[in-house]
Amino acid sequence: MSAKAFSVKSVVRPNILTLKPYRCARDDFSEGILLDANENAYGPALNPSSEAAAASSGLDIHRYPDPHQHDLKNLIAQFRGLIGPEHFFLGVGSDEVIDMVFRVFCVPGKDAILITPPTYGMYSVCAQINDVQVHEATLTLDGKFQLNINEIEKQIEAHPNIKIIFLCSPGNPTGSALTHESIRRVLTLPNYKGIVAVDEAYVDFIDASKEGSTSTWVKEYPNLIVMQTMSKSFGLAGVRLGVAITTPDIAFYMNSTKAPYNIASTTSRIAQEAFQPKALEILRNHIVVMTKERTRLLEAFKSISGLGRVLGTNDANFILVEVLNKEGKPCNERAFNIYQDMAKRQGLVVRFRGKEIGCEGCLRITIGTPEENDVVLKRLTEQLSRLL
Ligand SMILES: Cc1ncc(COP(=O)(O)O)c(C=O)c1O
Repeated sequence: MSAKAFSVKSVVRPNILTLKPYRCARDDFSEGILLDANENAYGPALNPSSEAAAASSGLDIHRYPDPHQHDLKNLIAQFRGLIGPEHFFLGVGSDEVIDMVFRVFCVPGKDAILITPPTYGMYSVCAQINDVQVHEATLTLDGKFQLNINEIEKQIEAHPNIKIIFLCSPGNPTGSALTHESIRRVLTLPNYKGIVAVDEAYVDFIDASKEGSTSTWVKEYPNLIVMQTMSKSFGLAGVRLGVAITTPDIAFYMNSTKAPYNIASTTSRIAQEAFQPKALEILRNHIVVMTKERTRLLEAFKSISGLGRVLGTNDANFILVEVLNKEGKPCNERAFNIYQDMAKRQGLVVRFRGKEIGCEGCLRITIGTPEENDVVLKRLTEQLSRLL
C-alpha cells in the first residue's frame, strides 16, 4: 500500500482515537522531592542486603519507573539501525505487544485478523480474548513454509473486516524466515487497508548470508509493525521486554493505550545493559555457538533412524523434525509418546507440534547447550530404537 492510500486514523479503533491518555506529574517532572505519586518515601521493605544491592546498582525501586523509556528506546534504535524513540512501543514481552496491537486496532465483536498457520499460538489466543475473529491463509506445505499470497488476497477480499495480518518470520514452529519479497507483497496488497504485523522474535538467529530484519522498513511502509523480543537471542526471557518498531503515528497510539508504568525499572536496567558493547559481543558469541550446534544437530538427525525430514529452513534456535512409524510415515502417536516419555521419565522436555497443520509427527526441539544437545541425541536415538 502506498503511504498516500493508508490512513492510520481509519484503522485505529474509534475509542482509542479519542482516548485522553493517563497523565502523571512524572511525565513533566522527575527530580526533586517527589511527593506526587503516593510512592513509599521510606524506601523498599526489603532486607538490608537486598536493598543495598538494588541501591548500589542505582535502582530507585521504591519509585515508579520511567513511563517513556527513551534511553532504552534509543539504544534499541541504534542497534536496529533506526533513529529516535518515536518509532517504539515497549511491552511486557512481545506477548503484550501482540495484545496491544489488538487493543489499538480491533473492535471486539466486529473486526478480524488474518494468520498464516502453522504459526505462533498467541495470535489466536489474543484474538479470542479480545473477541476478534480469526481467518487463515495456510503457509505453503512444501516443507518451506512460505506465504501463499493468492490465498492471503482471497481472504482479504472475502473478509473486509480484517484489520491485522500477522506474519511470523522466522516462523514458530516452522523455523522458516519469509522472503522479503513476499512480505513486501503483503505490505502493498492493493485491496488491503489494514496493518501488517511482522513478528521477528527469532530474527537474530537468521544466518548473516540470508535476508534479515524488516525493522528499518517502518520508514517506508506506513502500515508496518515489526515485533521483536529480548526473550530469545538476548537470553532475557525472565526480564519480559518486547518491542514494537513502527511509524511514529502508530507508536503514538500504542503508547497512549498502555498502562503508564508497564516496564519495570529492573527490566529497563538489565535491557539497557544488554546493549553495551561487551554484552553485544556475548550475544554474538552465543549466536555463533547456537548456529554451530544447530548445524551439528541437523547433521546428526540424518543418521537417527526413525527421524524423518527436518521441516522449514532452520532460521531460528530450534529444529522441527518428523518422527516416523515403521512404514516410514510421519506419525503423531509415536511422536507424542516419545515426547511424553522423555519428559516424564527422562527429564527432557521438547515440544510436540504434530497437531499443527503441515507438521504431522513433528517435535520442535530448541537448540540447547552442547551438553544438552548430546542428551537430546542420546535420548532420541534410544527412544527411536525401541520396537514399535
Ligand atoms: C513467534 C513468537 N512471538 C512472540 C513470542 C513471545 O515472546 P515474549 O517472551 O517476548 O513474550 C514467542 C515466544 O515463544 C514467539 O515464539
